[in-house]
Amino acid sequence: MNEKEWWKKSIVYQIYPRSFMDQNGDGVGDLQGIISKLDYFQELGVNVIWLCPVYQSPMDDGGYDIADYYQIDPMFGTNQDMDQLIEQADARGIKILMDLVVNHTSDEHAWFQEALTDPNSKYRDYYIFRKGIDGQAPNNWRSYFGGSAWEKVPNEENMFYLHAFSKKQPDLNWENPEVREECINMINWWLEKGLGGFRIDAILNLKKRIEYGQLPADGEDGLAFIGHWILNQPGIEEWLAEIDQRTFRKYNALTVAEADVPEDQLSRYIGEDGYFRMIFDFSYTDIDVPETGEWFLQSNWTVKELKENILQNELTTQKFGWGAKYLENHDQPRSINKYLPNEYQNDHSKKMLATLFMMLQGTPFIYQGQEIGMTNIRMDEMSDYDDIATHDQYRRAMLSGMSPEAAFEGMYLRSRDNNRTPMQWSDQKNAGFSGAEQTWIKVNSNYQTINVEAELNDDQSVLAFYQKLIALRRQAGPYQEAIIFGEVVPYEVPQEEIIAYKRSTAEEEVLVIVNFSANHQIVKLDGSYELLIGNQAYQTNLEQIKLVPYGSLVLGKKSEESK
Ligand code: GLC
Repeated sequence: MNEKEWWKKSIVYQIYPRSFMDQNGDGVGDLQGIISKLDYFQELGVNVIWLCPVYQSPMDDGGYDIADYYQIDPMFGTNQDMDQLIEQADARGIKILMDLVVNHTSDEHAWFQEALTDPNSKYRDYYIFRKGIDGQAPNNWRSYFGGSAWEKVPNEENMFYLHAFSKKQPDLNWENPEVREECINMINWWLEKGLGGFRIDAILNLKKRIEYGQLPADGEDGLAFIGHWILNQPGIEEWLAEIDQRTFRKYNALTVAEADVPEDQLSRYIGEDGYFRMIFDFSYTDIDVPETGEWFLQSNWTVKELKENILQNELTTQKFGWGAKYLENHDQPRSINKYLPNEYQNDHSKKMLATLFMMLQGTPFIYQGQEIGMTNIRMDEMSDYDDIATHDQYRRAMLSGMSPEAAFEGMYLRSRDNNRTPMQWSDQKNAGFSGAEQTWIKVNSNYQTINVEAELNDDQSVLAFYQKLIALRRQAGPYQEAIIFGEVVPYEVPQEEIIAYKRSTAEEEVLVIVNFSANHQIVKLDGSYELLIGNQAYQTNLEQIKLVPYGSLVLGKKSEESK
């Protein structure tokens, strides 16, 4: 590394290792599978890879339940495989990020096991145990995955432990300095191996204010949203600052936090001395989720709102620091299904989405399969779903009186498993992902047409389009500076369904125009631009352009001052 702020010029590719590439033929992706695809990342042009958790885990929550922070799970390979991946990626100029999950461990972690077996051991205070009230949970907090956030301790009377996520994910007690020390040592141990940094999971939940207890119920279950007293609570800042100083900063590592931070605190998070190098924005990726978080239902979002959220986020983030931009991740459905009506879901509109997102300011994160335009999967029945949150949402939908058919459709639209199906490499068996008879989760049946091999051979494919967008950012060229660093200035147009903005430096201007509608639209230009990339035709020297439905253009011109 170590150009300062190397991450600003980077493009990150997110891998869900279980579904990326299976080298040993057991139906589950593995590290050797990833190593076998290193050439692909070079071909694509990305220079950072983020791996969802590969640590030892019983996989209750897809690996976000860690039983040993120092061991790779045998399902994915060995620690030597991990060393090899870091080394071989490095030789190609690619850095590896791991997922850092320190809000909780698995209940199968040795610390938790010890805490249960011996209530007097020091590990008891690594977690959050509380006495119940007359045999009932200490308060009515609801875990993010449904049900009480308190689980009764087996073989002890009136004793409970806290789990913000599943009951197999007990929360760590960050008030205990030994816990903080353990985490800091572990982070440095990995960074010492040459890791590029971490994506940081659920980090705003570290500080709990259990003393505030009971909340007014906000659901049929009599429970209340846990976030009120565990999200972003005062006091968390000192811990975050300490971790950063004693780990990431020393290594000039990239850190990207899963953290929805209010504007008045942004500078503390991503400013010059911020705790993280960047954070993810949720405002436009969760636009389809109702405020209650019950995603078996859909919100009534509009393009106008989407536009406001995107542009507002750009303006705010650039004031304080640097953003991380994404259309998809392992917690989201496929973007094409989320943002586009059924009849307009095609390669043309996938390229429009790609343009909108890849030209924003901040580091783009591309999720595996997004670059070939993978889609949501039609499962046959609930038992086809693996994801714990999907089963919880289905239960809640049933409780709310929804019909099984409507609830199942809700899962099709939003389940996290939509993005966790095997990567589609070719039109061969299991989409070229695995030689096994059965894969751990179903392969999407559209792999015959949507796959890497076919798209690499087609210069009009979604993949070819992504390669060009990536090259605009990664390869030296006339507008690279503006595309990476240029200030975002909204480009005012009368139509609500047109999202348009400029990326400007003193010398250059890049104009991004996206038609988020099924109608033709006319947009006036403020000068003569050249075409950088688009999914439709463009004629230079016209004062106005005609956008086709879901058309998009990226145009460039030299600024007046620089002429
Ligand atoms: C984050 C992860 C998600 C996981 C949760 C609990 O939100 O992205 O996949 O279920 O944390 O660790």
